Amino acid sequence: MIEGDNLQVLKLLKNGYAGAFKLIYIDPPYNTGDTFTYNDDFSVPEAEYLRATGQVDDQGATTSRKETKGRKHAPWLTMMFPRLTVARHLLRKDGVFLASIDNNEVHHLRLLLDAVFGAENFVDMMTWRGARKGDAKLMGGGQDYILVYARNKSYLAENDIRWREKKDGLGPIYVKVDELFEKYGEDYSAATEELKSWYKSLPDEDPSKSHAHYCVMDKRGAFFPGDISSPNPRPNLVFDWKGYSVPKNGWRYELAKMKELDKDGRLLYPDSKDKRIQVKRYLREHEEWAPASVFYRDRRAASGALKKLMGAKVFDDPKGTDVLARLFHAITDDDDLILDFFAGSGSTGQAVWEQNPRDGKTRHWVLVQRPEKPDETTETGRNAVAEGYDTIFEITAERLRRAAEAIGGGLGFRVFRARETGLAVEAPVVARAGQGESAQYTLMLTQAGQPPVKDGASPDALAWEVALKASSTRLDETLTRTEADGATVYTFRNSAGERLLVCLDRFTSVTAAAVELRETGDDTLVLRGDRVDDALTLTLAPRLRSKLIMLERMTHEVSI
Ligand SMILES: C[S@@+](CC[C@H](N)C(=O)[O-])C[C@H]1O[C@@H](n2cnc3c(N)ncnc32)[C@H](O)[C@@H]1O
Repeated sequence: MIEGDNLQVLKLLKNGYAGAFKLIYIDPPYNTGDTFTYNDDFSVPEAEYLRATGQVDDQGATTSRKETKGRKHAPWLTMMFPRLTVARHLLRKDGVFLASIDNNEVHHLRLLLDAVFGAENFVDMMTWRGARKGDAKLMGGGQDYILVYARNKSYLAENDIRWREKKDGLGPIYVKVDELFEKYGEDYSAATEELKSWYKSLPDEDPSKSHAHYCVMDKRGAFFPGDISSPNPRPNLVFDWKGYSVPKNGWRYELAKMKELDKDGRLLYPDSKDKRIQVKRYLREHEEWAPASVFYRDRRAASGALKKLMGAKVFDDPKGTDVLARLFHAITDDDDLILDFFAGSGSTGQAVWEQNPRDGKTRHWVLVQRPEKPDETTETGRNAVAEGYDTIFEITAERLRRAAEAIGGGLGFRVFRARETGLAVEAPVVARAGQGESAQYTLMLTQAGQPPVKDGASPDALAWEVALKASSTRLDETLTRTEADGATVYTFRNSAGERLLVCLDRFTSVTAAAVELRETGDDTLVLRGDRVDDALTLTLAPRLRSKLIMLERMTHEVSI
């Protein structure tokens, strides 16, 4: 879990997680117009930013400036664009991007995603139907959407990748079929008639009704008579079968398989040879299909479940973990990484944890949430503050701690906080007109000799910052600290056994010996340029096969 603004965090993940995530799910704040603000200049405090952009007046009251100027969408899209661009870079080649969104921005977000991912990678716009708005004046509403994009849709097609989920509504059909076996014994045509009428009696929105074509019964259960012709022309599958009419493209199966199906009683023969044979497709053998593009799930259940877990209503409109878990099941696999950079209450993390034991997979997640204050103008925000939460991030973390405990099995997560950089950011050296060249160089060299890190920066935080920015270190890597000759060396070790060693103190040959620098090219060493002797770097660089990074104060020259 990472606390911080997601743009800053996504940029920090760019090295270690390029092409790493199988699935990115986001549920950004819906742009309801009057309350949406963002601030991508991390050096400007939010309050100052709001004032400077005219979104609050001098007394701190929110203004309706954006709405009255008819520019409601621009700030939201400007906020989203860079985040989506970096997010795409983090997806695997077979990766998938899902974004929940409502009517306010769905049309804009779709165009923006077309621009970022390419319209050819659009997969679908899923509609999530919830309860209708009881007081609606014009249309019932109550739905929102999930936009689905592939990082590379043609790659999915070339590799015949299929997304599968268990069909809804199977249970009641199996119960009915068992009841009919009991009632009719081997009179399968009577059982079939009753099964058909039962399907007809179901209301249209009943999920079992989508399987009404599985309406014929035999001793194995309910099946539907399926087409037995090949979907594409297959000359090798054109052969005689007991003199029945041969499909134009050929049969769906090879001769050996046809014999096997026949012996097993799975072929349905018509009453005349010029009609087509069919194959029995049993519901029990076809329990999965591609995820539905339109589905109904009442949102109140998710709110209720979260309230129960947290002991109070501290977050509005969380997404249902059941819906997310189904999508994760359909699209992702064992060991896959899932990212949600608008984490909210952390539903994505809980959904991953819930799904893993169901299908025996181990998926991992990374969640990002900024330390936003609960909105005390709402009852939920006041509840959150009364429960002792200072920020939404604290709610997210606590929710996941509680979920881990409830699910069991030793689940856990690391917490990172994105903070201002600990590296010294150099003001430009200004060379004045008339100043001699040597005076300018002296100025630059004086600046360059300054420490490359800020005074008082935490060494632990600096080690992580350097590791993330200068290498492809991931957040779950093991980190050890070694103290030697008055110096601390941070060693990050990745799953391939490669090490990144960071030392921000004076580094000596004694320290080098203590951490047993390897000459195999598997170690990268980061040192402070102002804390190591040139003589030592000259011996270290060849030993490390040039994997030696020196932190230096950067100086830029500006001539006026
Ligand atoms: C609609 S909510 C997500 C709800 C979440 N899907 C759930 O089920 O709980 C959007 C969240 O994104 C967070 N957020 C908004 N802008 C952000 C930013 N720039 N960086 C990180 N988080 C942000 C908000 O604080 C809010 O919690």
